[in-house]
Amino acid sequence: MSPKAKPEGVWADQPFKLLDTPGKDKPLSDPVIYVASHMALVHNTFIRALNSIYLHAPLIATSNKILSRDLLTYCQCWVALVALHHQIEEKFLFSAFEERIPGAKGILAVNVQQHEEFHDGLATFEKYVDSALAGKESYDSERLLKLIDGFSEPLMKHFNDEIPTLMRLEETGQGEDVMKVHEEFEVIVRKDIDGGIESRPNDAPQRRQDV
Ligand SMILES: [Fe+2]
Repeated sequence: MSPKAKPEGVWADQPFKLLDTPGKDKPLSDPVIYVASHMALVHNTFIRALNSIYLHAPLIATSNKILSRDLLTYCQCWVALVALHHQIEEKFLFSAFEERIPGAKGILAVNVQQHEEFHDGLATFEKYVDSALAGKESYDSERLLKLIDGFSEPLMKHFNDEIPTLMRLEETGQGEDVMKVHEEFEVIVRKDIDGGIESRPNDAPQRRQDV
């Protein structure tokens, strides 16, 4: 097999389509293209992970307590990371763009509004995952997929739409400021993720031993 040939099999690039990065055919040395491409790659990480949940869930039998618990824990991590991403965008990234780059005012408002459109569907998914992990409900792959279907359309639209919106920051002519805000955003994300990981062992469900 040549290194560029796609290996056979089903990969996590479906059913939800991955995004193209603006940097695919534009220079990454441009700060706005870099920032928008970085965001597209982060969104692709979430999309790939959701695809892997979607593809694996039906392969796990309700009776398989070990594998279903592993998948549900993975779902729990996924939903926590997506929520964290959107919280930091709202609390820091988008507001910092607006405060420090006058021309960015209002550009990102539509993307913040979109967060509301999948919020309830994601919350229902999270509630089921938590409840199944707590042993209050049984693992049901059909139900899990139906719950994903309940938020996937607005979530995918949001993941797609945010990239051209970020590209509009080119209009402000303040690429260096866009990059600076984005660097600060990355530091905050890293701190929050590290904090979450450090605090996790105490409240994480016990795996393997207690199934
Ligand atoms: Fe985003």
